[in-house]
Amino acid sequence: MGVRHFGVLLVNNNNRKKKHYWGYNTFSSAALFALGGENERLNFVEPKSEMGNMDDEQLVGKLNEALGWELRAVNMYAHYAANIKGINRIQLTPLFKQEVAESMVHADTIRNAIVKLGGVCTTDRNSENIVHSSNYRQMLEESFKTETTAARVYGELLPLLKEAGDGELYDTVEQIYLTELRSIEEMRLLLD
Ligand SMILES: [Fe+2]
Repeated sequence: MGVRHFGVLLVNNNNRKKKHYWGYNTFSSAALFALGGENERLNFVEPKSEMGNMDDEQLVGKLNEALGWELRAVNMYAHYAANIKGINRIQLTPLFKQEVAESMVHADTIRNAIVKLGGVCTTDRNSENIVHSSNYRQMLEESFKTETTAARVYGELLPLLKEAGDGELYDTVEQIYLTELRSIEEMRLLLD
């Protein structure tokens, strides 16, 4: 889901400190809210070899929360892809199917992270009701809400990863987080 002016990554010579810059002006206020402030985003995590058990437990809990939302997103977007009718079906079915695929990739990534930490992955989707509709605007509104929630959860996950000192996982989750922000913006533009 493209935000056209998105993304410049600077890596210095020893590849230890990174600063990510992106086009803030391309994000909606909702996306910026989910972003939680620029300063937080400019600090890179120095990797540690091991994480503490308490960190792991809290981390696995938050990762499972994210996984539950991804599993829900798979269901929701697949449902909307099948139910969209009329002329909008031409464009929105591929979009919703793309979101299904993206959510499955995210779920897979998070699942592997949980296993790496020695946790047990949830197999249950988040219990938030999936609103049935044949109205495309309502589908997009529900999509916007889902993406905003996903961004919030990943936004909460990043400080935990920072504290845990897992630089690799931090980078991985950050990429997912930014993808959610792009989806928020895409949904917002479609509703505009
Ligand atoms: Fe996602």
